[in-house]
Amino acid sequence: MSQEIFSQCDEYIQNLFAEEDEPLANIIKQIDENNLPQQSVSAVQGKLLQVMASACNAKRILEVGTFVGYSTVWLARALPADGKVITIELEENHAAFARNNFKACNVSHLIDLRVGNALDILHQMKKNMEAPFDFVFIDADKKPYVEYFLAALELSRRGTIIISDNVIREGNVLQKSTDEKVIGVQRFNKMLAENNRVVANILQTVGNKSHDGMAIAVVK
Ligand code: DHB
Ligand code: MG
Repeated sequence: MSQEIFSQCDEYIQNLFAEEDEPLANIIKQIDENNLPQQSVSAVQGKLLQVMASACNAKRILEVGTFVGYSTVWLARALPADGKVITIELEENHAAFARNNFKACNVSHLIDLRVGNALDILHQMKKNMEAPFDFVFIDADKKPYVEYFLAALELSRRGTIIISDNVIREGNVLQKSTDEKVIGVQRFNKMLAENNRVVANILQTVGNKSHDGMAIAVVK
């Protein structure tokens, strides 16, 4: 009953605020066609990311976990013409899909896709003294969420917004778990709550995806 009303309201919000053009909708279709998991953000969540990126006038965006690039396209479309999303993906197979999707969505020029281990890439970026990011979206493996966040924090400045996906996991965070994804986000949520370099909170998410949450942190 509640899942149905959540889905209907999601569709209502999507129709008003988050309509997908054809190439964007095609990404979701193609995920099914290739038997990949439907683990991208929803359209409404993609629009939320755009709103938050706009809130900090984002010109440099970091994404950890490209998958096939659905959220990356939403983020790129929040950028000015001289902006950039640097997005990191471990699996070359996903990255190949993402490259095609960026082309189809006409955003390739706004995206720098880096393939490899995210922690290595983030640490290298710090060493290279790359400019800080205005906005960060973490949506990769759940087990090292703490490490991703702390590495992203090293590439941030005062006012950077860092959003992390999937931190409620249908309420499974409430209980002791043996699932490494749940344990990863439990550890993350505790670290975030105690981290005095940010002001943070968790927004529960319902809609056409299962009940979950996004942690929103702003660097002090
Ligand atoms: C999973 C990962 C995600 O990024 C997501 O949005 C939903 C589920 C997962 O690995 O289970
Ligand atoms: Mg996710």
